[in-house]
Amino acid sequence: MCGIVGYIGPREATEVVVGGLQRLEYRGYDSAGIAIFAPGAGLQLRRSVGKLSNLVARLRETPASGNIGMGHTRWATHGGVTEVNAHPHRDTSGEIVVIQNGIVENYLELKGRLLEQGVQFHSQTDTEVIAHMVGLAYHQTGSLEAAVRQTMGQLRGGNAVVAFCVREPGRLVAARLGNAGGVAIGVGEGEMFIASDMPAILDYTRDIIFLEDRELAVVTADGVQITTLAGAAVQRAPISVPWDPVAAAKGDYKHFMQKEIFEQPRALTDILRGRIDVERGEVYLDDLTLDDAALRKVERIYAVACGTAWHAGLVAKFVIEQLARVRVEVDYASEFRYRNPVLGKDALLLAISQSGETVDTLAAMEEARTQGVPAVAIVNAIGSQAARVADGGPLYLHAGPEIGVASTKAFTSMLVAAYLLGLRLAAARGTLTQAQVREHLQHLVELPGKVAEVLESSAQQCEQLAERFHHATNALYLGRQINYPIALEGALKLKEISYIHAEGYPAGEMKHGPVALIDDTLPVVCIAPQDGIYEKMLSNVEQVKARGGQVIAIATVGDTVLPTKADHTIFIPATSPLLTPVLTVVPLQLFAYHVALRRGADVDQPRNLAKSVTVE
Ligand code: M6R
Repeated sequence: MCGIVGYIGPREATEVVVGGLQRLEYRGYDSAGIAIFAPGAGLQLRRSVGKLSNLVARLRETPASGNIGMGHTRWATHGGVTEVNAHPHRDTSGEIVVIQNGIVENYLELKGRLLEQGVQFHSQTDTEVIAHMVGLAYHQTGSLEAAVRQTMGQLRGGNAVVAFCVREPGRLVAARLGNAGGVAIGVGEGEMFIASDMPAILDYTRDIIFLEDRELAVVTADGVQITTLAGAAVQRAPISVPWDPVAAAKGDYKHFMQKEIFEQPRALTDILRGRIDVERGEVYLDDLTLDDAALRKVERIYAVACGTAWHAGLVAKFVIEQLARVRVEVDYASEFRYRNPVLGKDALLLAISQSGETVDTLAAMEEARTQGVPAVAIVNAIGSQAARVADGGPLYLHAGPEIGVASTKAFTSMLVAAYLLGLRLAAARGTLTQAQVREHLQHLVELPGKVAEVLESSAQQCEQLAERFHHATNALYLGRQINYPIALEGALKLKEISYIHAEGYPAGEMKHGPVALIDDTLPVVCIAPQDGIYEKMLSNVEQVKARGGQVIAIATVGDTVLPTKADHTIFIPATSPLLTPVLTVVPLQLFAYHVALRRGADVDQPRNLAKSVTVE
């Protein structure tokens, strides 16, 4: 949540910072602001409410220029969406500016102390507390580094902070506390960058150093010095990030979400690349550092995740249990640690996250660590916190940057990652013969092409259905077994980008309550591929039709029965039953996208949401 960017070097800082914020706007878009410094012009602060475009318009009227600066895009936590609450925030002297991503949990106590000292506040934010604390500490110590260090030592919660002082115009000080905010430091030639997420700086450098919990960095144009908050020196070489900045741009697509939906065949090809040998019936997950002996010992897996990634966890349960015969429990990461889980020995935690920065998922990994349980992470963002702390190694999705707030390509990639993990576990545990593995792999290699077929065959139909149903106020999504999570995911996609109330339900449970909702205005999406539960789904479709519901069915090509019962049928190609979710979800993504478009909603940046949820 919230995006932060900093720059120091020969370029025009305003351009670098605003360009970086554009790439981070998915992290929050309640307001945006920058602070740029130049010796003659001094500190130039520009802030504005709403999208970054408002700040850009403001900068056109009142430009800011210099070679050092910082910027912030806000997802409001403390204080309303107003210009006065927009970052950067200043101390009383006006010489120190601060931006923050995260939450200062003890800010009321700290603010109380500052008020007692006569400090006047202008905003309702927790970040202004940090600015004043750094300001007061600076006037005692005469050093920005010392002032930030002293201040961070008094904060509780999780934050990433960047500070600047006009009396030390050649440096930015960044610090990180807890898991709530990543800090990536980009190393250039005679220039340095700071960002909460890599897409902001990948145009300039791919050499990145990540700050860890309780670390502080003094960043000058020539380099960075990292220390712990306690003052111990830290030596850390940059890692080279392979992502292509072009992939983080919209190209010819109208929205990132649309681009990412259509990128799925490519993403699914990339996740398989170098990881499977169909002829030999082998899966190579080199990034997974657990060996066969460790995988054989696993008795229970806890899949933990949030939102769409949690839906991927629900599918992973079916896949891993079927392939490897290991019990899988699925938990909301936000609930996991608070239920004081009994993990037991020979357990494995499986964290699933696109961003690798979701604070609840990171906390679940931490819970596992304290109980001595190893954590494997299925994660997309290279070098993210989840990837770095996973002790079984991160299993990267290689889906490329996902910018649209509604997750699409990361979701289908997560499903394939779970499948690969299931096959790898099966190989180690001997639950499948090599011939069976070969058959599964054959289905996998055909999958990207089948996703491309679904995109091709259903795109226009989804637009027509969106035209027909975009005025609906409610929608019901029904599925069973492995496609029940897809009913949840279809409903979530519709909710989050079109603001239509939608519910996902196990179709067999409908008669125990939700059936009361059905009338002739209600679109009911029924996911009914030809699998072991198909006949039951047919009965459920009949039950919906008997009450007048408008059925949109997702059916397997060649099915001649379901289309006679449903009002509309979208076809997907046949595949292995365990892989149907990868295909059935695609039309639901397209449908949600086109409904949102017709309702004039902001598809890539839906209201109240942010891409990386780094607060509790
Ligand atoms: O980055 P993560 O995968 O950990 O994010 C988890 C959820 O916040 C995320 O999936 C969210 O539900 C999306 N907006 C869904 O489209």
